[in-house]
Amino acid sequence: MPAASKDGDGGWKNFLWNSEKKELLGRTGGSWFKILIFYVIFYGCLAGIFVGTIQALLLTLSDHKPTYQDRVAPPGLSHTPRSEKSELSFTKGLESSYSSYIKGMHSFLEMYGDEKQMDLMKFEDCGKIPRGYTNRGDLDSEVGTRKACMFKRSWLGECSGLNDTTFGFKYGKPCLIVKLNRIVNFRPKPPTSNDTIPEAAQSKVQPDVIPIHCSNKREEDQGKIGEILYFGLAEGFPLQYYPYYGKHLHSQYLQPLVAVKFTNLTLNHELRIECRVFGQNIQYSEKDRYQGRFDIKIHVKDS
Ligand SMILES: *[C@@H]1O[C@H](CO)[C@@H](O)[C@H](O)[C@H]1NC(C)=O
Ligand SMILES: *[C@@H]1O[C@H](CO)[C@@H](O)[C@H](O)[C@H]1NC(C)=O
Ligand SMILES: *[C@@H]1O[C@H](CO)[C@@H](O)[C@H](O)[C@H]1NC(C)=O
Repeated sequence: MPAASKDGDGGWKNFLWNSEKKELLGRTGGSWFKILIFYVIFYGCLAGIFVGTIQALLLTLSDHKPTYQDRVAPPGLSHTPRSEKSELSFTKGLESSYSSYIKGMHSFLEMYGDEKQMDLMKFEDCGKIPRGYTNRGDLDSEVGTRKACMFKRSWLGECSGLNDTTFGFKYGKPCLIVKLNRIVNFRPKPPTSNDTIPEAAQSKVQPDVIPIHCSNKREEDQGKIGEILYFGLAEGFPLQYYPYYGKHLHSQYLQPLVAVKFTNLTLNHELRIECRVFGQNIQYSEKDRYQGRFDIKIHVKDS
């Protein structure tokens, strides 16, 4: 038995390194070298094919323009402040109950400050009267960054946060700041007629503006929402801010904003409010609650 174990040991060591035949793990150095060369070439080719196909695909993509845009989803409508479960709940006059909301609004509006829009190489005054789309050249042409239309925070009036830094929250009259999410090369089309629009929003139909309207979402909140004020240019989204040329060409782009102020909400009630924008190419979806609309719960408690 001891002999066998000695033998076995010797066999194992021999297999690891056979000094007689100069073999490592049963192969000579030359044989190992050939295997190494084979795998280097093999994996090299695999990597080459991989990189090559990706490069070929990237060549067909433009930096500026989405390649496939035949099924553009209509833009989402979003609001600031955002909160969990789209619910704003605070106590009138109690700062700690709404400070996180107004903090979010101030930081969102920072880039809309006058001092951020001084550079006339980057910004242009597109007027305060709604007009048609601003054509800034071909999306494919690489030359130059495109100017952005100015949008001044002060145009949001009582909801600008400049005079009333609590955006009305202190008085139980909260503001929401609403924007249409940006989509490269999207030109929103205003409604052509009043027929497709709820009666209360019909007076807002005007040329060159995407109108927005908010109302109670539930039947039972009828009459409890009170008067709603709208601030911004023409109380809607004017067309001169479109189209957006994308992050590359339009890095300074400012989305037009609308501020919505609820001036007479019923206190101590959870109210559900829905805001919608209207346009020929703006649809709503059962699946996407933010497509062309949003709804929000607002609960203002009495102090
Ligand atoms: C802020 O208040 C001043 C003085 O009352 C007024 O002139 C100005 O228009 C107000 N600004 C805004 C953005 O409402
Ligand atoms: C829509 O209705 C409002 C009032 O109801 C009216 O002032 C406006 O001219 C109408 N617009 C169109 C495009 O018919
Ligand atoms: C606020 O709404 C109440 C009913 O909820 C109404 O009686 C009151 O007149 C409204 N106030 C204003 C300023 O509109």
